[in-house]
Formats: sequence, C-alpha cells, structure tokens
Amino acid sequence: MASNSGKTWGGRFSAETDSFVEKFTQSVSFDYRLYPFDIQGSMAHANGLVEAGVLTSDERDAIVVGLEKIRTEIEADEFIWSTEREDVHSNIEFRLVELVGELGKKLHTGRSRNDQVATDMRLWLRHEVDRIDEQMTCLLQVILDCAEKYTDTIMPGFTHMQIAQPITFGHHMMAWFEMMLRDRSRLRDCRKRINMSPLGAAALAGSSFSIPREQIAIELGFESLCRNSLDAVSDRDFAVEFTSVASTTAIHITRWCEEIIVWCSDIFGFVRLPDSFCTGSSIMPQKRNPDVPELIRGKSGRIVGDLVALLTLTKSQPLAYNRDNQEDKEPIFDAVDTLSECLQALCEMIPEMQPNSQRMRECAEQGYSTATDLADWLVRRSVPFREAHEIVGEVVALAESKNIRLDEMPLEQLLQVDSRFDESVFSSLSVVGSVNARDTVGGTSPTSVKREIEQARSRI
Ligand code: ARG
Repeated sequence: MASNSGKTWGGRFSAETDSFVEKFTQSVSFDYRLYPFDIQGSMAHANGLVEAGVLTSDERDAIVVGLEKIRTEIEADEFIWSTEREDVHSNIEFRLVELVGELGKKLHTGRSRNDQVATDMRLWLRHEVDRIDEQMTCLLQVILDCAEKYTDTIMPGFTHMQIAQPITFGHHMMAWFEMMLRDRSRLRDCRKRINMSPLGAAALAGSSFSIPREQIAIELGFESLCRNSLDAVSDRDFAVEFTSVASTTAIHITRWCEEIIVWCSDIFGFVRLPDSFCTGSSIMPQKRNPDVPELIRGKSGRIVGDLVALLTLTKSQPLAYNRDNQEDKEPIFDAVDTLSECLQALCEMIPEMQPNSQRMRECAEQGYSTATDLADWLVRRSVPFREAHEIVGEVVALAESKNIRLDEMPLEQLLQVDSRFDESVFSSLSVVGSVNARDTVGGTSPTSVKREIEQARSRI
C-alpha cells in the first residue's frame, strides 16, 4: 500500500493507485497556486471548529502556527509538493500533520475537499477580480489621458469600413472608454456572486458539527452564504460568469487592437507605435510589425475557449460534486492570466501610440465625408431631409465625375443642381465645421468630448 500512504483517503483501499491514474487524477501541478487561500480558509475553519467544540483554542493556535510555517516553506520554495498527495489541499494537510502531529488530523472535521476547493476557488477569484478591476481602472485613466490630448484631432469616422463622417480622435478613444467602463461594471457585478461562502457544506449534505457558517463567512470577507449545500459544492457558475465577463472584455479589446493594427499599416498610417512595441521580420529587413496588438487580438481566442471549456464542463453534471469540477482550474487560471496580461499590455501601449494628425485629417477630407452636413444645410432652409438627401446625392455624383471634393465644387455647379445653394454653404463643408456642429451629448465635437472627459473622471 506504499503509494496510498500519502493519501487522505487510503483507508479503504487495498491496492496501490495505478501510476498512470495517479498522474491522471492529480491537480497539484496546477492548483498549488491556491495555497494562500487554502491556508486562509483552513484558519477560518479552525476558528469555526473551536466554536463547534471540536478544537480547543490552544489546538487551534498550534494549527495556525503550523499553517503559517507551511506558508513560509512554500514561499521559500522549500515545500515538497507531491502528486502522490493529489492536490493542494491534501499536500498542505499532510505537511500539517508532519509539523503538528496527530492534532493536524482534526482539522478536516466537518469539512470536505468539496467545500474546501469551492472556497479556495472563490477566495482566489475574488482576489484576482480585484486585481483586474484595478488594471481596468488604470486602463480607463490611460484612455482618458489619451482622449484629452487629442480632443481637436480630426480623423475619418467609418461605417462599413468606408469613410463616413469626420470625427475627433478623442471622441474615438472615448468609445473605448465606455466599453471598458461597462466591462468593469460587469466585473463588479459578478464579484457579488463569487463572494459567497460554501464552507460548511462539507461533502454535499452539510456537517453534523455545529460549524458557525456565518462567522466563518464573515472572517473570510464573504458577503453571503451559499444556502444549499449541494449547490455550494457543485456549481461553478461563478467561474463561468467571470469568464463570460472576461470574454466580453477580450472581444472588445480585439476590436480595438484590430483598429490599431489597421491604423499602423502603411496604407492607413493613422498611428505609429514606437519600436519598443513592434518587432521585425527575419527575412524582410524593412518590416516593423505591430505584434503587441496582434497578440492581444489572438489571445482572445484562449479566453473564449476557456469559457466554452467551463460551460461544457458544467453541462449535464448531476448533483452534487463530481470530479469533472477539477477541470475548472486550468481554464479559469488561463482566463485570468491572459486577460490580466492583455490589460497590462494595453495600459503600456496606449500612451505610446503616436497619432499622425495630418494624415488622419487628409483622409477625413476624402470620401465626401461632409455630405450629411450639406444636406443638413438644406434642411435648415426648410428642405425636407429626404429631398435634401436626394439633392446632395446628385452633388456627390457630380463631384465624383469631376474628381473633386465637395468644398472644391464651384458655386455655379452647385446651383445647377439646386437653386437654393449660396456662398454660406461652404462653411458647413469643412471637416472642422462638421465636427464642431455635432455638439449633442455623446457627439464628436471637441467641446462635447471635453465635457464627457470631465464627467468621465468622476465615473471611473
Ligand atoms: N482536487 C479536487 C478538485 O479540484 C478537490 C476536490 C476533490 N474531491 C473529491 N471528492 N475527490 O475538485
């Protein structure tokens, strides 16, 4: 029974675990990173056991000293992790018994690895959510600073990837601000459902000891209790929900990075990333590739994949705990790590982005981008919008046939299309006039964008 000696469940087994099965079932190679939360949860549980009359306070103190020693050993890289002891929980418990003797064997009273792992995962994820929340806040600041620098910088706005109307670069940045702020709000919302305590649910049915669940929950900073023991140990919807929030964020980020990549191309030339954010080609000496936004775009696939993995893992699982749940770790770890890395990359890259104002302005002046302004000018002279649209369509066709911009059209030509045009029309055809005119809430005018930036500072 040699290979069962380190197992917490060895008692009823007479044959050794097959060496492949041991490798196949272990999780310590990846769940070891839960150790600070496993220790924290065990300390709170030990306090609960004092209340339940299972441990004396001296015994609890000795256990706490043992757990602190284990933390020190792990942090000094002196702890021996063993796959024979399956997971982070059993490894720590085994070492505790080595350190404090028989007393260590009392710690698992009224607890199962099922409620223990659910607790660890929730504590860990709550910690990571708070860290990601800070990163998102940092990114929101970065966006605002960038938007503020370029409130007057004109660029073309697109629909269908065709030049549509002139906008300001600051306004464009503020679109990303809104998305990221919603992402952070979703993150904060899902935190509430992560921050619930499963401890005391034990294996599936609750504990026969009077574990003070509320007290333990408060000690661990949980906002509420998982109120059904079967649900507490078996559902991983908190992980699914986080990863869904992470996926939405990742997908938003891909849109942003896609634009930056396109903008960096020679054909667009809207922005330049410094050398420190680009890499070269091993064959084409001239290349400067925007690998950072490309990688961020590519990494979204992992996060969405993690979401699909977690959803599929949960699908059809009967109550209560099943070992399938051990497979929640790698996807959720990956989703957290990947999102966090991408947010950091953006926080560092955005301030380095150098917009080419001249190039963007030139492009904004192309594509008859002020045609709507021309129609609006007619509307102000009591022409119904549909009719104005028709008239301007003709003007555009004429300008196109002459290969000139709208503001280059001689007045006589405009008058040929409609007799109501006069000299004052030209002021509405400039890109500056066009953006300045869009001064409603959420519009692109520099004054509107400045107002939004100011308000946004208090929305962060
Ligand atoms: N390593 C396991 C997991 O991650 C811990 C729970 C094990 N429970 C059990 N009944 N085998 O889910």
